[in-house]
Amino acid sequence: MAAGARAPEPRVLVCLGALLAGWVAAGLEAIVIGEVHENVTLYCGNISGPRGLVTWYRNSSEPAFLLSSNSSLPPASPRFSLVNPSSLHIEALSLQDEGNYTCQEILNVTRWFHVWLQVASGPYQIEVNISATGRLPNGTLYAARGSQVDFSCSSSSWPPPMVEWWFQAWNSSGEPFGNNLTVSSFTLLLMSPSLQGNYTCLAMNMLSGRHQEVTTELLVYSPPPAAPQCWAEMSSESFMLQLTCRWDGGYPDANFLWTEEPGGVIMGKSKLGVETLNQSQLSDGKKFKCVGSHIVGPESGASCVVQIGGPSLLSEPLKTCFVGGNVTLTCQVSGAYPPAKILWLRNLTQPEVVIQPDSHYLITQNGQSSALTIRNCSQDLDEGYYVCRAENPVRVREVDIWLSVKVGNTFRRQDMGDVMVLVDSEEEEEEEEEEDAAEEEEEGSEREELPKERAKHNHIHRVTALVNGNIEQMGNGFQDLQDDSSDQQSDVVQEEDRPV
Ligand SMILES: *[C@@H]1O[C@H](CO)[C@@H](O)[C@H](O)[C@H]1NC(C)=O
Ligand SMILES: *[C@@H]1O[C@H](CO)[C@@H](O)[C@H](O)[C@H]1NC(C)=O
Ligand SMILES: *[C@@H]1O[C@H](CO)[C@@H](O)[C@H](O)[C@H]1NC(C)=O
Ligand SMILES: *[C@@H]1O[C@H](CO)[C@@H](O)[C@H](O)[C@H]1NC(C)=O
Ligand SMILES: *[C@@H]1O[C@H](CO)[C@@H](O)[C@H](O)[C@H]1NC(C)=O
Ligand SMILES: *[C@@H]1O[C@H](CO)[C@@H](O)[C@H](O)[C@H]1NC(C)=O
Ligand SMILES: *[C@@H]1O[C@H](CO)[C@@H](O)[C@H](O)[C@H]1NC(C)=O
Ligand SMILES: *[C@@H]1O[C@H](CO)[C@@H](O)[C@H](O)[C@H]1NC(C)=O
Ligand SMILES: *[C@@H]1O[C@H](CO)[C@@H](O)[C@H](O)[C@H]1NC(C)=O
Ligand SMILES: *[C@@H]1O[C@H](CO)[C@@H](O)[C@H](O)[C@H]1NC(C)=O
Ligand SMILES: *[C@@H]1O[C@H](CO)[C@@H](O)[C@H](O)[C@H]1NC(C)=O
Ligand SMILES: *[C@@H]1O[C@H](CO)[C@@H](O)[C@H](O)[C@H]1NC(C)=O
Repeated sequence: MAAGARAPEPRVLVCLGALLAGWVAAGLEAIVIGEVHENVTLYCGNISGPRGLVTWYRNSSEPAFLLSSNSSLPPASPRFSLVNPSSLHIEALSLQDEGNYTCQEILNVTRWFHVWLQVASGPYQIEVNISATGRLPNGTLYAARGSQVDFSCSSSSWPPPMVEWWFQAWNSSGEPFGNNLTVSSFTLLLMSPSLQGNYTCLAMNMLSGRHQEVTTELLVYSPPPAAPQCWAEMSSESFMLQLTCRWDGGYPDANFLWTEEPGGVIMGKSKLGVETLNQSQLSDGKKFKCVGSHIVGPESGASCVVQIGGPSLLSEPLKTCFVGGNVTLTCQVSGAYPPAKILWLRNLTQPEVVIQPDSHYLITQNGQSSALTIRNCSQDLDEGYYVCRAENPVRVREVDIWLSVKVGNTFRRQDMGDVMVLVDSEEEEEEEEEEDAAEEEEEGSEREELPKERAKHNHIHRVTALVNGNIEQMGNGFQDLQDDSSDQQSDVVQEEDRPV
C-alpha cells in the first residue's frame, strides 16, 4: 500500500497505512503526472495540521537526497523547493524527472510517503503526409479521381500517442468514411468524389490527455469524360463570329485557349471558352483550334478545330412565269460555316429592297436552301432581277436571277420548270440541269452578275449557266456553250450586257 516498506518502524506504519488509505491512488501510491517544461508539486501525504521535519528523496537504487526543511541543508538542485510547507516543487520538468519520490516526515514518529511522478511530453509537431496529391496555390490538396492516396500521421510524443484519423465529407455531419481510424497511416485505393472533404489526424497523449489535431482539406478532381466540342456561330446582333468551346463534366471546370491555325496565334484564353472575332480576323477556310486544359486532365490538353467558310451560291439564273401564274426561284447555299443568313432582294428600277413574305411572296427555307415563290405573276410588277444574298461573318455572296413574265399558256403546270418544257424545245429540259449547276464564286462585294439582256433570254438559257468559268461543274454543258460562241460569257461581256 501507500506506506513504504523502507520504514524503520514497520508496526507503526501498518497503522499509518490504514490512515493514509484515503488519499492513495489505486491502492499503491500517489501518482502525479507532469509535463515536460512545466512545474509540478508533489505532496508529502494528504495531511492537514502541523508538519514535522520533511526530507525528500529520489527513490532510485539508492535514495538520493533532494531537499529538506532543515534550511541548513541546501537542495540538490535549485529546481527543487519546498512549498506550503512540506510539498516538493520541481521546476521545468524533463523526462529524466520521471520516477518514484519519497518524503520522510519526522514528527512524534517518522513517516514515509511515496509519490510516483510520471512525465509526459507532447504531442508536438504533428505531421500529416498525404500523397500522391497536388497542391493548389492556396495550399489545398487535390487528388485525381481513381487514384491511390496514402495518408500518414506522426508526431513527437512521450509516451507514444494514440493516433486517430477521421473524415468529414462536404456538407455532411456524418462520417461516411466509417469509424475513427486508430491507425497512423492508411491508404485509399480508388479516390471518388464522395471521399472529398476534410481529413483530420488527431494525436492524443494518453498520459497527459494533451492532444493535437491537423485537418487537411482534400479535393477529388476529375477531368471531363469526353472530348471537347467546338463550333462557330454568328453573334446575334452584329455580324461578328463567335467561337465556342465546351468541355463539360470535369471538376473543376476546364480552361480554354483559342488559337489560329496554322501558326498558333493566340486569340484568347478563358474559363468560358467563347471568343468573338470581327470580320478583319476572318477569311474563307481559316481554322481555329480550341485547346481545353484541365488540372488533372492530359498534360497537353484536349482539342477541337473549327474551320470557317464563306457561302457559295447555286441558283438558276433565268426563270419564266406566265401572267397570273406562280413561279418559284431557288437559291442553294453551300460551304458556309457558320451557316449563312439568306435574303431575297428585288431590283427593278428602285434600289434593292429586301422582300418580305406576304400574299404575293412566299419564302421558304430548308436548311441552307431558300425558295421564293411569286404568286399571280404580273409583267409590270414582277419582271426583272431578283437577288439571292447569303451572308455570314466570313463574306457576303449574291446571285441575280432574271425573271421574265410572259403572256401565255399556264394551264396544267404551275411551276416554272414545267412551264419551260411546254414552251421551249426539248433541249430546254437538259439545260435546266446545267443552269442548276451554276455557282456563284465571286466575293460578295463585287457582285458577279449574270447576263441580263432580256432579248437573249428566251433562246439561250444554257449560256447563262456558265458563271465565272467553272468548267468542272458544267460537265457536258460546256460543249454546248462553245458551240454557241456568240453567247460565251466573260466578265467583260457581262458588263456590256447590262441593261441600261
Ligand atoms: C515554474 O515556477 C517558477 C517559479 O516557481 C515560475 O517562475 C514559472 O513561471 C513556473 N513555470 C510555469 C510553466 O508555471
Ligand atoms: C486529500 O484528501 C481529501 C479527502 O481525503 C481530498 O478531498 C483531497 O482532494 C486530497 N488532496 C490531495 C491534494 O490529494
Ligand atoms: C522505492 O519505492 C518502492 C515503492 O514505493 C519501495 O518499495 C522501495 O523501497 C523504494 N526504494 C527506495 C530506495 O526508497
Ligand atoms: C539540520 O542540519 C544540520 C546539519 O546537518 C544539523 O546539524 C541539525 O541538527 C539539523 N537540524 C535538525 C532540527 O535536525
Ligand atoms: C515506481 O514504483 C512503482 C511501484 O510502486 C513501480 O511500478 C514503478 O515502476 C516505479 N517507477 C519507476 C520509474 O521506477
Ligand atoms: C504527537 O505528540 C503530541 C504531543 O507530544 C500529540 O499531541 C500528538 O497527538 C502526537 N501526534 C501524533 C500523530 O501522534
Ligand atoms: C482553395 O482553392 C480551391 C479552388 O479554388 C477551393 O475549392 C478551396 O476551397 C480553397 N481552399 C481554401 C482553404 O481556401
Ligand atoms: C474543411 O475545413 C475547412 C477549414 O478548416 C473548412 O472551412 C471547411 O468548411 C471544412 N469542410 C468541411 C466539409 O467540413
Ligand atoms: C471518434 O472521434 C470523435 C471525434 O474526435 C470522438 O468524439 C469519438 O469518441 C471517437 N470515437 C471513437 C470510437 O474513438
Ligand atoms: C477587329 O479586331 C482586331 C483585332 O482584335 C482589331 O485590331 C480591330 O480594331 C477590330 N476591328 C473592328 C472594326 O472592331
Ligand atoms: C398559285 O399559288 C396559290 C397559292 O399556293 C394557288 O392558290 C394558286 O392556285 C396558284 N396559281 C396557279 C396558277 O397555279
Ligand atoms: C439592279 O441590278 C443591276 C444588275 O445587277 C445593277 O446594275 C443595278 O445597279 C441595280 N439597280 C439598283 C437600283 O440597285
